[in-house]
Amino acid sequence: MRALTLEPGTAGSLRLTDLPDPTPGPGELLVEGLAVGVCGTDREIAQAEYGWAPPGRDRLVLGHESLGRVRTAPEGSGFAPGDLVVGVVRRPDPEPCGACARGEFDNCRNGRYTERGIKELDGYGAELWCVEPEFAVALDPGLAHLGVLVEPTSVVAKAWEQVWRVGGRAWFEPRRALVTGAGPIGLLAAMIGVRAGLEVHVLDRVGTGPKPRLVEQLGATYHHADVDEVASRLLPDVVIEATGVGDLVFAVMRHTAPYGVVCLTGVSQTGRRTEVDAGRVNRDMVLENDVVVGSVNANPRHYRQAAEALAGADPDWLDGLITRRVPLGSFAEAFEPEPEDVKVVITLDDGH
Ligand code: BGC
Repeated sequence: MRALTLEPGTAGSLRLTDLPDPTPGPGELLVEGLAVGVCGTDREIAQAEYGWAPPGRDRLVLGHESLGRVRTAPEGSGFAPGDLVVGVVRRPDPEPCGACARGEFDNCRNGRYTERGIKELDGYGAELWCVEPEFAVALDPGLAHLGVLVEPTSVVAKAWEQVWRVGGRAWFEPRRALVTGAGPIGLLAAMIGVRAGLEVHVLDRVGTGPKPRLVEQLGATYHHADVDEVASRLLPDVVIEATGVGDLVFAVMRHTAPYGVVCLTGVSQTGRRTEVDAGRVNRDMVLENDVVVGSVNANPRHYRQAAEALAGADPDWLDGLITRRVPLGSFAEAFEPEPEDVKVVITLDDGH
């Protein structure tokens, strides 16, 4: 079978590799890969800025935003051949920390978790892959190719769950949300915010292309003005930050409504310095009971929430998020960003 592989730490090592077909371990499903989404993390790994090969090996199979169809499933696994499935990204650490031991490996405390396609476990960017049934999520067959959006949506479902849980420490009826960044994470966060009945605003740099239209089609409001100007006028109750841009992160922290919750989901570049009035930020946060919460990854509960949210969303809108589909044989094109990209997907079922 063909797989998208690279050597973490070596830029330019991304390639198609012929690997032996995998053999499912006891209890595992054998899955035909249909597609993998490409995200900022994959690009970072390809640029040798992130990612770890499995112990004792140089090579990692890339891909964590999966979609596949079950080829074989052991009896009693709860799955059957033909089922549309997504594989969960993270696995708990081998000697589980308290959170991992309780199935909350998305909140792992000791950093010894592993992640398929990212950290020490082969990913899903292959024509065939295996997965343990407890780390597979069955999808509504009607979702079809849109199922590749489940993993990014799971990240967003977790972020919103954090917002509701943090907000729940006192009276919390948020009305207005600001989402910064109109990439897939931002747009999916906006979608969930609209579904929850909030007035949703989305801020991004660009003024043209598919993003403004996608936001308007959701019933949300698009902004591409200066973040300080927009946020100070809106004073949002909730901010979902999906750019990871340092200046922007501190700007939104300054301009929430009292009891504001800012959820940070963007993984930043490090080493960039920015000037901040730290006293102002601290003073506002204390005097307004504001919270800033970081959120990464997702556990199977969030994948199920994501699958449900996508099944209830407008399929044409979701299809509009997938702006390019690249066959596995032309994988390199998926790693060359184009100006109108939102989500780029590599299709795995195009044969040779
Ligand atoms: C993935 C997460 C993962 C994180 C850090 C993200 O792109 O969606 O599942 O935990 O990267 O590795």
